[in-house]
Amino acid sequence: MEALENLMSRRSPNKLAEPAPSKEALDKAMAAAVRAPDHGKLKPWRFIVIDSEARSAFGDVMARCLKRQQPDANDEMLKRELEKAFRAPTIVVAVARIQPQHPKIPEVEQLLAAGAATQNFWLALHAQGYGVYWKTGAAAYDAQVKRELGLAESDQIVGFMYVGTIAAPAPDAKRPEAEGFVERWTRPAA
Ligand SMILES: Cc1cc2nc3c(=O)[nH]c(=O)nc-3n(C[C@H](O)[C@H](O)[C@H](O)COP(=O)(O)O)c2cc1C
Repeated sequence: MEALENLMSRRSPNKLAEPAPSKEALDKAMAAAVRAPDHGKLKPWRFIVIDSEARSAFGDVMARCLKRQQPDANDEMLKRELEKAFRAPTIVVAVARIQPQHPKIPEVEQLLAAGAATQNFWLALHAQGYGVYWKTGAAAYDAQVKRELGLAESDQIVGFMYVGTIAAPAPDAKRPEAEGFVERWTRPAA
């Protein structure tokens, strides 16, 4: 797909299904991810792939998180949380591996680099015909979820990237126009 067309046509599909991206397609997406801009060459990104049966354990992690955060969550809510792990054949947890108090590179720049890598990852999968949802929610900011995923306290979860074959495309929607978000600056404000 032509590069600009790939950018302009990216959407979050309505529904994902099997098959998962081939190993080759996923490898290409990872290769694109790690070519993101990166101040100081810190490579502040990690990608954790969760697929097949591991999704069930991931669903448990998410359900336990919901229970911690909402102790009165009922069985129906917990079941729904568990099932979310199966809404795509593959989940890739995109992580910012932050070096706290780095002498030169502020943490926000490390987080931005990991965000750019995550967007590269999505666009590379889109270019290969696969669909992706980028999800966060309370679990992305939960210390115990990070521990259970094997992450350090200083790591930040950038997104739970659900990846698969598009079973139902995104509904038609008016896409944002750049007009209104762009200003031309000429001199300092008084
Ligand atoms: C950092 C980040 C976190 C997001 N978390 C969620 C989320 O938890 N749930 C959700 O429905 N959408 C979330 N989104 C937004 C969707 O991924 C999606 O991009 C948005 O709904 C716009 O739809 P589009 O991708 O079709 O343009 C998140 C986006 C970003 C950048």
